[in-house]
Amino acid sequence: IKMAQDELKKIAAYKAVEFIKSGMVVGLGTGSTAKHAVDRIGELIQQGVLTDIVGIPTSKKTHEQALSVHIPLSDLDTHPVVDLAIDGADEVDPDLNLVKGRGGSLLREKMIEFASKKFVVIVDETKLVDYIGGSGLAMPVEVVPFCWKFTAHKLELLFKESGCVAKLRICPETGDPFVTDNSNYTIDLFFKKSIGDLKAAGDAILRLPGVVEHGMFIDMATAVIVAGDGGVTVKNK
Ligand code: A5P
Repeated sequence: IKMAQDELKKIAAYKAVEFIKSGMVVGLGTGSTAKHAVDRIGELIQQGVLTDIVGIPTSKKTHEQALSVHIPLSDLDTHPVVDLAIDGADEVDPDLNLVKGRGGSLLREKMIEFASKKFVVIVDETKLVDYIGGSGLAMPVEVVPFCWKFTAHKLELLFKESGCVAKLRICPETGDPFVTDNSNYTIDLFFKKSIGDLKAAGDAILRLPGVVEHGMFIDMATAVIVAGDGGVTVKNK
């Protein structure tokens, strides 16, 4: 049977929520997959199945959604240790490295998931790639708006060998630059070839002064839950 992609996202999300126990501080992810997890957590709190949950939202959008389903919320300043974070991803490689941020959030996600003892990623099987960048879709980099063209050019030069093209993300509705939750811009990088060592690539990106953060989540996921037509698989790190 062929299931709709959103149905698969929901299956992965519900599976991840099974790992939450009462009393936990939970990182709440952003995007169409994580949305199902947030709804489910709200539902289980409502039913009294989960108690004393503290949610840490990874974006303004998730903050709003979590409030609407009555999840008690806090932040990293008050709760610097997160027990478990659940979030989607745009790409997952065989070593469970990720690309995130195509949906617009990545900085708050990375801060919260970095602070999490366990980070469970939820995806449908279309997100699995052989290597990071392998989908041919964007690898987002959050940059300060100041002279973003300069930063975009430096990013392209950094990955010249991989045929990198850097594009400023634009809001389709307004035609203006897309502005992140932290008032930055997003430069989407497209690669024609693999960028090789991810850690080295990530470090090089972060050394550019105009860069705030990049969308590669290297060695951060502790488990990835993949939902496909053949069922659900849990890949552990
Ligand atoms: C938000 O920018 C993200 O990092 C998402 O986690 C990622 O884009 C996956 O989103 P979907 O679950 O909507 O595919």
